[in-house]
Amino acid sequence: VAAVEHTFVVSQVKMTRMCKQIPVTVVNGQLPGPTIEVTEGHSVTVHVVNMSPYNLTIHWHGVYQLLNCWNDGVPMVTQRPIPPNANFTYRFDVAGQEGTLWWHAHDAFLRATVYGALIIRPRNGAASYPFPKPHKEIPILIGEWWEKDLAAVDRNFTRGHYDEFSSGSTINGKLGDLFNCSGVFEDGYVLDVEPGKTYLLRVINAALFSEYFIKIAGHKFTVVAADANYVTPYATDVIVIAPGETMDALVIADAAPVGRYYMAAQPIQAPPPDTQTPEFATRGTVRYYQHQHTRNNDDAVAPDMPDQHDTIKSFYFHGNLTGLRQRQRQRARVPARADERLLVTLGLGSICRLPGRRSCKRGDHPESMVVANMNNVSFHDAAAAAPLLEAHYYHRRGGNGGVGTAGLPDRPPSAFNYTDPALIPFGPQEMRLEPTRRATAVRRFRHGAVVDVVFQSTAMLQGDSNPMHLHGHDMFVLAQGIGNYDAATDEGKYNLVNPPRKNTVLVPNLGWAAIRFVADNPGAWFIHCHFEFHLAMGMAAVFIVEDGPTPNTSLPPPPPGFLDGRP
Ligand code: C2O
Repeated sequence: VAAVEHTFVVSQVKMTRMCKQIPVTVVNGQLPGPTIEVTEGHSVTVHVVNMSPYNLTIHWHGVYQLLNCWNDGVPMVTQRPIPPNANFTYRFDVAGQEGTLWWHAHDAFLRATVYGALIIRPRNGAASYPFPKPHKEIPILIGEWWEKDLAAVDRNFTRGHYDEFSSGSTINGKLGDLFNCSGVFEDGYVLDVEPGKTYLLRVINAALFSEYFIKIAGHKFTVVAADANYVTPYATDVIVIAPGETMDALVIADAAPVGRYYMAAQPIQAPPPDTQTPEFATRGTVRYYQHQHTRNNDDAVAPDMPDQHDTIKSFYFHGNLTGLRQRQRQRARVPARADERLLVTLGLGSICRLPGRRSCKRGDHPESMVVANMNNVSFHDAAAAAPLLEAHYYHRRGGNGGVGTAGLPDRPPSAFNYTDPALIPFGPQEMRLEPTRRATAVRRFRHGAVVDVVFQSTAMLQGDSNPMHLHGHDMFVLAQGIGNYDAATDEGKYNLVNPPRKNTVLVPNLGWAAIRFVADNPGAWFIHCHFEFHLAMGMAAVFIVEDGPTPNTSLPPPPPGFLDGRP
């Protein structure tokens, strides 16, 4: 197989945004990091050189990593983190998938700036796209700019303090449309277009915290793919994208070519209005060719943006996506029925820090700490002695150092009105959150099992939706709804004809999403909310897929050198 090879040097550099210079951790001095472009069926090698002061791993978000879990890049799930001044080489093939994916650091808040696009081209080139060949293809990475020290923010989150927001939003690493820092100009992102031509925007939400609305004044989008799976072309004037998702959209430069048009990215989850900086939303510019030599944006047309907390718009946008049937590949057909079913609530709970106590009374508040959970288990791996994958592969009983490995339950410990608005943190019903325990939540699946998961969001999460990301597999999104899932009526709504396939499914605010996946990739796969603060607070679990009966369905041994120097 042909190969693509990169060296990623991770280091801290000084960057200036919002007229202030701060240290940021990036790959090869760039923000966003380098784009990896590879043809389907080819292999990728990335040598990571860690010159940063942090432990880190790089995760290849959405890449199947079939029989290659060792290269998935999740600290203490698939590998030990790469310490400062050490190197590590990732090797993987991309097979059976094409489109827009991305890569990012999987260590807490480092992914705020350690990220980039990963584009898989079809074997037969752009002519084989199921849509007209675009004139140009443009990665659009939405990110956040943090002036706060992210390591400190991370510590706060893992201690249950979750009121932290970024200073601003970025498009391809740039803030705003133009900053004038005492005479020195900081440019915003500019997309130069020629009238009448079609552009394919490969939009990636790399932000830690928020879904985004994306609009371009005077232009419309046709969404053609999501999470590197083609969708039925969907015309819309707004793209709604959650952290972890990718959306490919065609844009025709068919507006009057007389001026400039703002491309705006506005977060749905944002700080309270009184604390918002003007940069919490960001703008780039779409510039027609005869305007390429002036900086003046005074005449630029701005798009009308949806209301800031319009999560219903996001609900409908996601509900309108269906899979493109004529392009269904090998792993693409949705099985007619499931072997196992889970109902997983996504919530907040409290942990009691009083010695020897499982729960604190309300009066004991200083000792109770807020954590995020799935079925009331909050993921915790701090005491692990070996990565879960290693422990699993070598059948080390009580792997993970024997500390607190627990099964992820099939259902929440108690049924209640999950989406009751009265159920907010610290409200009168807070005891509903109990009992939450901290454990390394693991769920095992037989190789080939067809698994249904209903993710049920809860009112404890207030205005948040939950982008739930599964490693190593795509999920068919069968249905979504507002309110509480009810099998008796909701199962009948499942789309078993052309459900979209996603590696990240957005569970609507105060609602649910039902997914089906085939556990056909042996290994230990992280499943978690792609809001970094939910992940830091424990909204995660590990799905272990057992080996199948043949070498072709079993996890191979770790690559040579993988465990060198390890205890
Ligand atoms: Cu994009 Cu586990 O992450």
